[in-house]
Amino acid sequence: MINKLRRRFLGAAALLMAGGGLAQGQTVQGFVHEQSSEDGYVWPTDTTVLKKLDAWQDQKFGVLFHFGLYSVPGIVESWSICSEDVDWITRKENLPYDKYKEWYWNLKDSLNPTEFNPAEWVRIMDDAGMKYMIFTTKHHDGFCTFDSKLTDFTIANGPMAGSGKENVAKEVFDAFRDKGFMIGCYFSKPDWHCEWFWNPEFATPNRHINYKKARHPEWWKNYQDFTAGQLGELLGGEYGKFDILWLDGGWITGDEIGLDSILADARSGGHPGLISVDRSIRGRNENYQTPERGIPEKQLPYPWESCITLSNDWGWVPDAPFKSPAKVIGMLAEITAKGGALLLGVGPTPQGTIEPEVEKRLHEIGNWLRANGEAIYETRPTPVYNDGLTWFTGSKDGKTLYAIYALPEGEEMPATIEWSGNLPKGKMTLLDGNKSLKYKTTADGRVTVTLPKGLPKMPLAIKFTPAK
Ligand code: GLC
Repeated sequence: MINKLRRRFLGAAALLMAGGGLAQGQTVQGFVHEQSSEDGYVWPTDTTVLKKLDAWQDQKFGVLFHFGLYSVPGIVESWSICSEDVDWITRKENLPYDKYKEWYWNLKDSLNPTEFNPAEWVRIMDDAGMKYMIFTTKHHDGFCTFDSKLTDFTIANGPMAGSGKENVAKEVFDAFRDKGFMIGCYFSKPDWHCEWFWNPEFATPNRHINYKKARHPEWWKNYQDFTAGQLGELLGGEYGKFDILWLDGGWITGDEIGLDSILADARSGGHPGLISVDRSIRGRNENYQTPERGIPEKQLPYPWESCITLSNDWGWVPDAPFKSPAKVIGMLAEITAKGGALLLGVGPTPQGTIEPEVEKRLHEIGNWLRANGEAIYETRPTPVYNDGLTWFTGSKDGKTLYAIYALPEGEEMPATIEWSGNLPKGKMTLLDGNKSLKYKTTADGRVTVTLPKGLPKMPLAIKFTPAK
């Protein structure tokens, strides 16, 4: 089984070069985590993990919610309390660092999402055509959106206490699970609120622990126990079954928190096949790689996912500029053709809602996927995967190919499109409306497709049978 699944994936991509770096120019925040190197992928040996990875590779499109204290003022997630001098970390002016941190910690008394209704989140993401979800249970600031008993620093202790919905993470996971989404738990290994990580005896100059482990082994041990304890809470059953454990904050490794035994317990307990994403830590516990805010240059011969924000930020910020549906669809086509999945970042508002503008854009993406999803979902990469603006995907059995022409936003639809390689035979159809298309091929392997007039100015997807 392992070999079969492995072969299927490798078969599609191994002949290709194993990819270069990330596409340039999309970063606002910068790559906080370097992506782990491409030769470092370690295939899982547990067949249930491999099976789940294969099922996950059918999903293609998911949502990553960032919701926490930073949502209240609408600022960069957590990072403003980290004393690193880089342009994407900004703070309120005229507040000394210590006072700023105090103000930030106290946001816990203002996070009161009175309109929080997870069924609405599900409705909107389902309508967008998303199939899996990941939710921040704890970001680097240490604030928990789940009802941890190991700290008071939780949403359940704030203004929401007693509302019946105060265990926000549980509400979110349950609602999405009911709708059949694959469920992912985001958890930051670093915790800047925990005294065993940033100890109050010392200043906090950067993202790392602010003491020497060798001098304070007991502090470090307390931090390890606390972290393993919180993961134990999340994986202990109260939050239901998880498909993905998405561990952020790669400056602490899974090994440092005893991830092997946490995973072994989880997989033999309530989470069979749990996919471990110890992101940016290459090796056995990074079951898929997570390039951030960018798309790898080439196909990669192992499971991967690009996490990319719909606006410029992970969390909600006021008046955010959002990417257009055409842009997101173009990214989804490119990522799918390269063998990955798109995890789109959406930040719920401090009231606990999804902004109407976000809903509108997601709905348009969903409309496109309703007509063209066959070219995306459950496909696998095909060796000749790109020519210009056209991205190719294939059915699992390789008998059908899809060409997605990613018309950029604002451009006119051309009368014809052309590509080399992937020669069709027989009938060719436009997925939207199932119209048959006229095409010509030349002896040197060029295909020219005539497009019907009056098509909407959006990416389009074509289905055909490969000539050989
Ligand atoms: C980065 C950032 C973090 C964010 C994550 C989402 O790793 O450190 O703030 O949550 O990206 O992908």
